[in-house]
Amino acid sequence: MALLITNIQELLQIRGPEVAKVCGAEMAVLPSLKNAWLLVEGDLIKDFGAMDTCPDVPAEVIDATGRTVLPAWCDSHTHIVYAGNRAAEFVDRINGLTYEEIANRGGGILNSARKLNETSEDEIYEQSRGRLEEVMKLGTGAVEIKSGYGLTVEGEIKMLRVIKRLRETYPVAIKATFLGAHAFPTAFKDNHTGYIDLIINDMLPVIARENLADYIDAFCETGYFSVEETGRIIEAGKKYGLRAKIHVNQFNAIGGIAACVKQDALSVDHLEVLNPEDINALKNSETMPVALPSCSYFLSIPYTPARQMLNAGLPLALATDFNPGSTPSGNMNFVVATACIKMKMTPEEAINAATINGAYAMGLSGSHGSITTGKKANLIITKPIASFYQLPYAFGSNLIESVIIDGKIIA
Ligand code: NIG
Ligand code: FE
Repeated sequence: MALLITNIQELLQIRGPEVAKVCGAEMAVLPSLKNAWLLVEGDLIKDFGAMDTCPDVPAEVIDATGRTVLPAWCDSHTHIVYAGNRAAEFVDRINGLTYEEIANRGGGILNSARKLNETSEDEIYEQSRGRLEEVMKLGTGAVEIKSGYGLTVEGEIKMLRVIKRLRETYPVAIKATFLGAHAFPTAFKDNHTGYIDLIINDMLPVIARENLADYIDAFCETGYFSVEETGRIIEAGKKYGLRAKIHVNQFNAIGGIAACVKQDALSVDHLEVLNPEDINALKNSETMPVALPSCSYFLSIPYTPARQMLNAGLPLALATDFNPGSTPSGNMNFVVATACIKMKMTPEEAINAATINGAYAMGLSGSHGSITTGKKANLIITKPIASFYQLPYAFGSNLIESVIIDGKIIA
């Protein structure tokens, strides 16, 4: 049976099918319709319009009087699949250690990799699906999930198989990214070439053969993968049709962004530390910059300079970075609020960044991220609110009443 949402106080983010992303000053505009209806047929948005044109069709009706309807969040950067947690390191940081000091002691990513390799695939699936269900209820309708806590052939493949199983089980759209180049395992601490060879010669061919990944990633950072090493990973991924989405400029600007743009990366993510050359490199490119404000919040590091980027005409996407070390939260509502509060993005800009631009950053803007006839019926219906400004304003409240994913009410 079709689903008809009526009396929508405001329907947000209405776009033509040709809009794949919005950039710079365009991001200040969030096209909307007041007093609207929207018809869902199957898993798609069939049509929408002003209430005086509401069709009389057999359908289950949701009366959305006083409520705002917007596209479900598109979270283009997460590490939802992991084992255990790192709450003890969180307390170590409160007591004065830095993220870097913890990593140098064999904690951090290597700590999660140890846990991952000791945990069965079924158990990792159980832990991860709990997190996925949680973020769906918080309004996320499309999500990218990375590997990167295996750092062994078996471990990386185990993670990607869990992602595949999540994709086959849940209605949320899932893109998988291979992040074997997340950190150097202890055994390869002094043999970087050896580990990169392992990624290229032993991991990638199996992953490609089993069709386990859509994208490839690397942590391009001092003490992790150099610009040159990242370049090798990107090149190798290309041979298997995996476009790059790269962790870069989190703690240091080492020239990674220009290299990523040159290699036609789909996105560059983090960008907490950004210099004018980095911004210039992104101009007029197809690469989407992605900010992860919950990570800045949790680690007390700088926020991505959104205003500088938008003033330069760049687009920007927002994502959670949900992971056990730097961001143990997958709440896109908090991300949108934090972008407004700490990065001085307007609610319109933040919502554009968390919907259509997020969809672009995972290759889904043809089917997700806006209210467009023929796109997936992935929708958030808010509780009664006076204006959508209340979503980021009331930053600690859950103002979502229901979530529809692929045409089905899931919360
Ligand atoms: O995006 N920076 C690299 N990777 C993750 C954190 C990984 C971890 O600490 O487990 C991130 O912040
Ligand atoms: Fe990340």
